[in-house]
Amino acid sequence: MGVAMSEEMLRVENLHVSVEGTSIIKGLNLTIHRGEIHVIMGRNGAGKSTLANVVMGHPAYEITQGTIHFQGQPLEELAVFERARAGMFLSFQYPAVIPGVQVGTFLKKSVASVRDDPPKGRAFRKELNGAMAELEMDKSFLSRYVNDGFSGGEKKRLEILQMLLLKPNLALLDETDSGLDIDALRIVSKGINKIAPEAGCLIITHYQRLLDHVKPHFVHAMIDGAIVKTGGPELALELEERGYDWLDVAA
Ligand SMILES: Nc1ncnc2c1ncn2[C@@H]1O[C@H](COP(=O)(O)OP(=O)(O)O)[C@@H](O)[C@H]1O
Ligand SMILES: [Mg+2]
Repeated sequence: MGVAMSEEMLRVENLHVSVEGTSIIKGLNLTIHRGEIHVIMGRNGAGKSTLANVVMGHPAYEITQGTIHFQGQPLEELAVFERARAGMFLSFQYPAVIPGVQVGTFLKKSVASVRDDPPKGRAFRKELNGAMAELEMDKSFLSRYVNDGFSGGEKKRLEILQMLLLKPNLALLDETDSGLDIDALRIVSKGINKIAPEAGCLIITHYQRLLDHVKPHFVHAMIDGAIVKTGGPELALELEERGYDWLDVAA
């Protein structure tokens, strides 16, 4: 295995997180290297989004114990914009609507604020056109307002388009596959597979079906704020079939 393959993107150790005084994440451990695709599955309320949000630096979440390292650096040393600039990308479960801001402008600004070598003018348009073609998106998208009146599938495509343009080192995808029809799912998967060889990927999902298109190296089952079992793609099938009760030691 080459050195680049084993480069550590994210290391979470004995993480405990509280939201408004309630303990949500309770002793979670997870390490993701460049080139690895990890999947986290778990019931609603298990704390999956909390994990993604705390890694990205959402102010509502308080780390009460444990550590998170991003590319070897303690996370608390990095402000949210520095995390983004260092290549951390979070695709939201519920992307925000930004009326009055056109998609084209939004993408150009986000690329300019995150990438060290932002392409300008013609070069940016070329890259944008290429990425949009790959995701089978129509040019008319660019003049619409961000997520304003977008279908679920369109919102997720925009998230993935932004991800392709930002070229993240660590991609956190929170239920990016939820509510997608087969076509949109295939396209979202294409985007994930495109960035995956160069990034660490954490995919949060409820469904095995995404994994028909994206092959994870590790699947983790999360219950009540901790990872209770780790396996390969076969674990995703098992979780979808059997649910989570069989893993729930507290039950
Ligand atoms: N910003 C918040 N304010 C209050 N409670 C929250 C907040 N975010 C998450 N929670 C609570 O934390 C628990 C875990 O939520 P979440 O991480 O969204 O779970 P999942 O993504 O696994 O469904 C839930 O009980 C939820 O109500
Ligand atoms: Mg969630």
